[in-house]
Amino acid sequence: MAEQSSIHGLWRSRWLFILAAAGSAVGLGNIWKFPYITGENGGGAFVLVYLLCIALIGVPVMIAEVLLGRTGRQSPINTMTAIAKDQQVNPAWAGIGWMGALSGFLILSFYSVIAGWALNYVCTTAMGVLDGVSAAQSGETFSALLASPLTLLFWHSAFMLLTLAIVSRGVNKGLESAIKLLMPMLFALLALLLAYAFTLEGFWQGFDFLFSFDLNKLSSDGVIVALGHAFFTLSLGLGAIMAYGAYMPANVSIGKTVLLVGLLDTLVALVAGLIIFAIVFSNGLEPSAGPGLLFQTLPVAFGQMPFGTLVGSLFFILVAFAAWSSSISLAEPVVAWAVESLGMSRMRAAIVVGLVAWVLGLGTILSFNLWSDVTLFGKTIFATLDFLTANILLPLGGLLIAVFVGWRMKASDVQTEADMGSGVLYALWRVTLRYIAPLGIAFVLYNGLK
Ligand code: PFF
Repeated sequence: MAEQSSIHGLWRSRWLFILAAAGSAVGLGNIWKFPYITGENGGGAFVLVYLLCIALIGVPVMIAEVLLGRTGRQSPINTMTAIAKDQQVNPAWAGIGWMGALSGFLILSFYSVIAGWALNYVCTTAMGVLDGVSAAQSGETFSALLASPLTLLFWHSAFMLLTLAIVSRGVNKGLESAIKLLMPMLFALLALLLAYAFTLEGFWQGFDFLFSFDLNKLSSDGVIVALGHAFFTLSLGLGAIMAYGAYMPANVSIGKTVLLVGLLDTLVALVAGLIIFAIVFSNGLEPSAGPGLLFQTLPVAFGQMPFGTLVGSLFFILVAFAAWSSSISLAEPVVAWAVESLGMSRMRAAIVVGLVAWVLGLGTILSFNLWSDVTLFGKTIFATLDFLTANILLPLGGLLIAVFVGWRMKASDVQTEADMGSGVLYALWRVTLRYIAPLGIAFVLYNGLK
């Protein structure tokens, strides 16, 4: 395809792309979701499968997704439309973009509610409400939050506004400035908390829980959750990374860059796991507590340590920051599309996208209280949205991306755009993308849904 240019701007450097993509990838998925699904799925064996999914499926698909974005240089919907036309394949391939837009709305709707929990905890921790709490008291505080639709609504609205404030400012003034500030702080705080966790008596028990593999503990459900999480945590399969790829400068090696993003994301998840399970085991808590794990366990530790109020508030600020740099990437693909195709201003597009996701979020809010017994396939609304997006739509999006880049695009075009030369690395990527990733995803999806 002839060289395209992005009307939305470009990241100013390779590092800014890395920070932005890492900002999208590192989020609630790493700090909140990874520890609790690991706890629910029995620990080490689940972690092993998750790591395999990242390496054999996630990273190859991520390279393909960035490549598509950089080739098309538009929102995912228009990028896929343009590339399908250029490659003279069925225009229905643009469906990858449309399906991604749907997933983006659904995820943003519940993501904002959970990020709202973090905002709420910034306040409760800073005001000293959680000073010296026992595990039981901390559990009660969390249940009280979930039981209050209005409190949840308030924080959900606040978080959605924060997201819109950045997205409406655009790539350089909005996304880039926010990310430059947020990411280094996030890394610093995680390092500090890891050092603290290391001093706890339960550290090695947590370590064992994460890294000792007992395959008997793994269910087939666990495998689909691990694959789904690999997509969720790397922000793959819905076009977020494609949109960010569209703003990537031309002279940057996609392969190496993506590898770094994948490593950073995995590192943050493992460190978050080490911190949280150290606290869980040091305080005799349950690793399988579910979605409340992060919010019930950490306050217990903060309540006991010196300067706990300060460290605790900072920690929840960072959870919120991590979520913020991810939520902007959920909104960006659709906002960019509305700017390109509906001729909206960025501001207006951001407001419309935010409003739709905000309304959808009400379903998640109510699923924790008034509608807690409304279920679909035995799951609450929140659990359904989470399952449908992470475990079905994202892997399906990833499967289509792998097949499109691996089998439908001309190999010579792919090789030129990938810019990885023709050596071992490129060959390895081609093979994983064409065979291992699609077969792996199809196998897990088929077995998981059967
Ligand atoms: N990767 C983010 C996280 O781990 O929290 C969540 C996410 C962001 C998923 C953007 C999908 C996406 F497009």
